[in-house]
Amino acid sequence: MDTTDLVLAIIHHLLVFSLAAIIGAEFVLIRGDLPAATLKRLAGIDGHYGIIAALIIIVGIGRVFWGLKGWEFYVHNWVFWAKMAAFGIVGLLSIIPTVRFISWNRQASTNPAFAVPAAELASVKSYIRAEGAIFLLIPVFAAAMARGYGI
Ligand code: HEM
Repeated sequence: MDTTDLVLAIIHHLLVFSLAAIIGAEFVLIRGDLPAATLKRLAGIDGHYGIIAALIIIVGIGRVFWGLKGWEFYVHNWVFWAKMAAFGIVGLLSIIPTVRFISWNRQASTNPAFAVPAAELASVKSYIRAEGAIFLLIPVFAAAMARGYGI
């Protein structure tokens, strides 16, 4: 029994589900009408993205070093690095939506007639769809690496 491993695993799971919820919420909200209140909500939800992602990195690294298997298990495991790459790509894909949400929210708060430009909306939708698709790969890699695939 290793309490540190258990606690890290629990926090890791809670955080990754929170990140999935954030991506899911953005996916749904971006499809409806985008009045100022929704833009504010999107910017607010998205603000938590960075915090949760940073906590996942800290707790994930904690699992690598203080988990049951030891860091040597992961550093030479290509499935672990595939998981890291997928997580990095999801992070990169989230940059444009974040920039747009902040900009739209700022414009909507100063100009009541502001409407999100159709081209910008279409591109943000594509980025969020891609984020969601790549995110789905992460638990696939996680489950495989945890069972010794990739060594
Ligand atoms: C820097 C980022 C991350 C690091 C360093 C990291 C590291 C780890 C480590 C060391 C484990 C333990 C695996 C084992 O039992 O041998 C794990 C498990 C897991 N990770 Fe991550 N992780 C990260 C991000 C994520 C993200 C974004 C997700 C999102 C889905 C995720 C989902 C999971 C799942 C579902 C497991 C449990 C796998 C299982 O036991 O079947 N991880 N992670």
